[in-house]
Amino acid sequence: MYYFDHAATSFPKPKRVIDSVVTTMEMHGANPGRGGHSLSRQASELVLQTRQKIAAFFHAPSEEHVWFYPNATFALNQAIIGFPFSNGDEVVTTHFEHNSVLRPLYAMEKQAGIIIRFAGGKTGEETAASVVEAINDKTKFVVINHASNVTGEIVPLTSISEKAKSVGAILCVDASQTAGTISINMERDGIDLLACPGHKGLLGPQGTGILLSKHDYHLKPMTYGGTGHSSESKDQPIMWPERYEAGTLNTPAIAGLGAGIDELEYLGGTEAIYQHEVQLVDYFLREIANVNVSLVGSDTTEGRLAVVSFAFAELSSQECAIILDQHYQIAVRAGLHCAPKLHEWFGSINKGLVRVSFGPYTTMNDVRVLIQAIKEIGASF
Ligand code: ALA
Repeated sequence: MYYFDHAATSFPKPKRVIDSVVTTMEMHGANPGRGGHSLSRQASELVLQTRQKIAAFFHAPSEEHVWFYPNATFALNQAIIGFPFSNGDEVVTTHFEHNSVLRPLYAMEKQAGIIIRFAGGKTGEETAASVVEAINDKTKFVVINHASNVTGEIVPLTSISEKAKSVGAILCVDASQTAGTISINMERDGIDLLACPGHKGLLGPQGTGILLSKHDYHLKPMTYGGTGHSSESKDQPIMWPERYEAGTLNTPAIAGLGAGIDELEYLGGTEAIYQHEVQLVDYFLREIANVNVSLVGSDTTEGRLAVVSFAFAELSSQECAIILDQHYQIAVRAGLHCAPKLHEWFGSINKGLVRVSFGPYTTMNDVRVLIQAIKEIGASF
């Protein structure tokens, strides 16, 4: 199988990640923070180590500012649904958001009376400029997809964070596609809330998502329940991370996520991974220019991830994906990619698009096989 669906989840997972999950289940599988015995302490230590690695990786103030969830969607819900919005508060976002941002925003539109302002442009730079223009004195919250899961366009954060700060708005960044692939520094980039999955660019197991909170924005917890201490209190503890992490954590997956961070370092860090992927996407873009497909977004490597979406006029995206899967053993993702407003913007809402996305282990040979298959499909009409 040739795997080109890294934007959905990275695959295969590194051996050290798998080993870490299995060893945790075999050797340290007790409940972290829920007992004084040595196995529980070992589990707590594993969770702490990953928390520390994540805090260092994204330059969060300390490990208490790192909260674990089952996925990025939960993390984004904690950030958006948990935010203390008041009726009439304005939120600036983009047309290129995933439903994990759009649906919580729509829910807050109904429940809290927020006003959503959409911005967007053809490139990441244009989108940033449009977001800056949309931010005004009434803006309380800005939530931005750091890079589109459909076009791969990266939205530069500096001007957005400066404008958000100037009006006292909180900047929440959805780094689902960028975490592990491009450098993210909460301090340097002026990010208040950073959400990402653990299972995409960070190479960890599914069942992991993270929210990092730079300061205390008085978020309401999404879940209430056991935290392993202060059990006599009727209220959720105020202490971080427990305030935002009720219930037993997924220790094996969190340990695996820590190993994913180690793997990124072993691969040379985000810059080396990005350069590898850019080389592949550069070749792919030059070759696909010879095929009669329409691409959405930019056709250069400038300011983008190794994520490309396209359509054949003669074929629906789902049909193309089925041919690639069944005839060529090539895995891609077709359809709307949970980003309906983006497809409305690009006019692909009816037929969807075929998305290919590359990862750190994708080889040039894999990309040649993919291009050959796309050329053959194109030649068959
Ligand atoms: N959000 C993931 C994707 O784009 C699942 O495929």
